[in-house]
This record gives sequence, C-alpha cells and structure tokens, in this order.
Amino acid sequence: MTLFEIESLTYRFNRITALDGLSMTIPAGTRIGLLGANGSGKSTLLRILDGLYFAESGVVRFLGDALTEARFGDNEFAYGFRRRVGMLFQNPDAQLFNATVFDEVAFGPLQLRWSAADVRARVMDTLERLRLAHLEHRVPQRLSGGEKKRVALASVLVMDPEVLLLDEPTDALDPRSQSQLIDLLMGWADGSKSVITATHHLGILGDIADRCFVLDRGRLVADRTPADILQDEDLLDRTNLIHVHRHRHDEGHVHSHPHLHGL
Ligand SMILES: Nc1ncnc2c1ncn2[C@@H]1O[C@H](COP(=O)(O)OP(=O)(O)O)[C@@H](O)[C@H]1O
Ligand SMILES: [Mg+2]
Repeated sequence: MTLFEIESLTYRFNRITALDGLSMTIPAGTRIGLLGANGSGKSTLLRILDGLYFAESGVVRFLGDALTEARFGDNEFAYGFRRRVGMLFQNPDAQLFNATVFDEVAFGPLQLRWSAADVRARVMDTLERLRLAHLEHRVPQRLSGGEKKRVALASVLVMDPEVLLLDEPTDALDPRSQSQLIDLLMGWADGSKSVITATHHLGILGDIADRCFVLDRGRLVADRTPADILQDEDLLDRTNLIHVHRHRHDEGHVHSHPHLHGL
C-alpha cells in the first residue's frame, strides 16, 4: 500500500527553490531515511507531508487524497489526518507553546475529549517511557535543547500516530537519549508504523531505516537500501554527506579518506 505519492513536486520560498520537480513513492509500514546536505529540502518536504505547506506545482497524495489547502478545509479530513500523522520539528521551539511539560504533552490528548483521568494516565506513561517524568512541572521553553527535543517527541508519541515524520530527531540528544530513540525506531522495523526520518547521522542509518532517499538541491538523487547508500562514497561526497580530506603525508604522497559525519 502506498502511503505518500509525490509527483513532480515543486516548492519555492520566493525565489529560492526548495523542492524542484521531486517525485517519490513512500510505501506504508516502512522506515525511510531522508538524507541530504543542509538546504537540500528535507524539512520543507516533511512540512509538506505534514500538511503544513502545500505543493505549488505537482501533487502530493496521502492514501490517495491530494493534500491541498482546500482538502484541509474539510474538518473531518483534517482531524483524521492530524490523528494519523505526527511530526517532530527540527527546531523544538516551533512546537512547544504550553506553560508546563505536562500541559505540553497533554495538549493533543485533551483535543480528543478523553476523560481527565485517561489523559493524565496516558501523559504520565509517555513521560515515564521517555524518562521525562521529573520535568513534568517545568516550563518547556526553559529546558535544554535536548530536553526540549524529547518533550516535543513525547507530545507526538503520546498520540500514537501511525505515521511519524521526524526531522533530525537525534540532534542535541545525549548518548543515552539517542540510543533510546534508536531503540524506538528499531522497534518499528516490524511495519507497525511508517516513519520518515531526516538525518545527517549516517552511523545510525542502518538501524533506523529500511530504505533511504537522498535529496540534493530539492531533487531525489538516490533511492536505495541504507547499506547501498553507505557504500557509495562517491554519492555521499557529491551530495556533501561526507567530506573527503586530502592530506600530504611526510613521505610526500597525497592520500584521501572519507569522514563520515556523526560516526
Ligand atoms: N522559511 C524560509 N524562507 C526562505 N527560504 C527558506 C525557508 N525555509 C527553507 N528555506 C530554503 O529552502 C531550501 C531548503 O531548506 P530546508 O528544507 O530547510 O533544507 P534542509 O532541511 O534539507 O536543510 C534552502 O535553500 C533554505 O534556505
Ligand atoms: Mg532541515
């Protein structure tokens, strides 16, 4: 089953072309790794998949429905979509607006009109799972970068969406929080969720993705398995995902070797 179908998608910010005739098919129940250098269009694509921006030309379909502003004007569609698709923003400040961590994570569940007791139980369970319970009464905006990212993740996971759009989720996380997130992503290898993760972190790709898309200047330049992509030094160098250093050694010969970011 096809989850997202993207056809000739172009998106511009005034004169800057962020996505340039992009086409790709994202099957349901798959974990996709979205790679690309800074500015290659990853965040823009995720925002379009989340129904926050709309295709300027081309079309993006979610389970067959074209994602347009008009479609989201239909409350029933918008509600169903928001229930099924959750997004973690690259910058958590864009996502945190409540007075306490508890309220932040409770915000989504409260929209569902569950009982107060059910909301409380669900929120506390999520906070505990993410080792955030001790921050329950804190002001989200005053947390550290990594804590903010984890609270934002909690506010998404508490809704248990079928589709997760994660924009550089391991950014700013300490090693333990990173491995916890990787464990979660590994758990979804069973097809129970569709997960699209934008990352620069090549070292984790094999664990968090079944399939990998590489973007370069708003275009798709590769669609392969993580192992295949990681072996393609040329592609990684060309798309600025690794940088190849050339040094002159004392003996006078020049040799080069790749540096994988974040390994
Ligand atoms: N709000 C914005 N206004 C103007 N240009 C933007 C905005 N957001 C992104 N861009 C531009 O769009 C391109 C793609 O950006 P983005 O999707 O954030 O890339 P990535 O997430 O891969 O780093 C870049 O050239 C970026 O400068
Ligand atoms: Mg980005």
